[in-house]
Amino acid sequence: MRKKQIKERIFWLGAVDWDRRLFDALIPLPDGTTYNAYLIEGSEKTALLDTVDPPMTGKLMAQLEGVSKIDFIISHHAEQDHSGALPRVLERFPDAKVVVTPKAKGMLIDLLKIPQDAFITVKDGETVSLGDKTLKFIHTPWVHWPETMVTYLEEDRILFSCDFYGSHIASADLFITDQGRVYEAAKRYFAEIMMPFRNVIEKNMEKLEAYDIQMIAPSHGQVYDRPAWIMDAYREWVTGAPHNRVVLPFVSMHGSTRQMVDHLVSALAGRGVGVELFNLAVTDIGKLAIALVDAATIVVGAPTVLAGPHPLAAYAALLANALRPKARFLSIIGSYGWGGKTVETLAAMIPNLKVEVLEPILCKGVPLEADFQALDRLADAIAQKHKENGFK
Ligand code: FEO
Repeated sequence: MRKKQIKERIFWLGAVDWDRRLFDALIPLPDGTTYNAYLIEGSEKTALLDTVDPPMTGKLMAQLEGVSKIDFIISHHAEQDHSGALPRVLERFPDAKVVVTPKAKGMLIDLLKIPQDAFITVKDGETVSLGDKTLKFIHTPWVHWPETMVTYLEEDRILFSCDFYGSHIASADLFITDQGRVYEAAKRYFAEIMMPFRNVIEKNMEKLEAYDIQMIAPSHGQVYDRPAWIMDAYREWVTGAPHNRVVLPFVSMHGSTRQMVDHLVSALAGRGVGVELFNLAVTDIGKLAIALVDAATIVVGAPTVLAGPHPLAAYAALLANALRPKARFLSIIGSYGWGGKTVETLAAMIPNLKVEVLEPILCKGVPLEADFQALDRLADAIAQKHKENGFK
């Protein structure tokens, strides 16, 4: 892909990764991704904002052919999908200074062995002039590492946000053409890496309210030329009340836990509670993460195997614990054959969740009428809790 002009003397550079299907050996990328860098040519100086993932270095270097000098390389975030090509760019432009937060400097030295004297560290709110264009650096920690910052280009009112507001979508279109598609991808991305840091992100969003932002140029996905909707969406994901919904990740070995799950889904739906069901044997965990953004209650459906929870259910519990969703209630249901410590083991895996645990329901073998009645009582309790809390 060639570089593309966003506005006068402001360019998108980078790479579209159409084929990538997994990030961090963990996060599914059903639509691929992009690694966006940006080139800003001021009347006196030139800045490159971020780089690309190491395997894409050649594409970035080809786009930089014909660029005679780079004065500043702004590194918003030390993670290698944005910083990985820095050593190569510095080889080509040895006089360029890498502009970072103080924390990012240490991280880039550790991760990429960039020499100490290559850096300029900037304070929150500090500016660098390119002549007729001014870069203002706003520290925005924990989107999604501790060192992250964003850049506001004052004259053009563009926010270069790196991972913040990003989405994993491979596209040849520079600007958003399908808002619904980007909404889901951005929510998936928020759920997978930003959700645990909601409280800090809320403060970062409050800080950005002071700026007139007419465009957001993230480092993954397409550029927002009408950014209000994504900022509103983030506000809802970060600060909105949980919804009247249950997320139900489950796995079933011989069908008994599945019978319990199906009964509970019906019972909840009959009481006006929304449910999203995820069969962990086949599910895309990104979809599960999206559902966790809003749900008020999590119910884990876990059969017992080898005297403990099925490993897929344990994985879902560990994932939920890491993502720290805003859910307020949690329960566990499932079937066992002869015994085990499923509830105790799962409960020990979720210390980060600030939830009230509703009475778990385990049954021996195939569920019987008494077990279905217990599931009805669980559905009653969930519906009641959601109502008492005003969840809609
Ligand atoms: Fe896109 Fe946190 O790197």
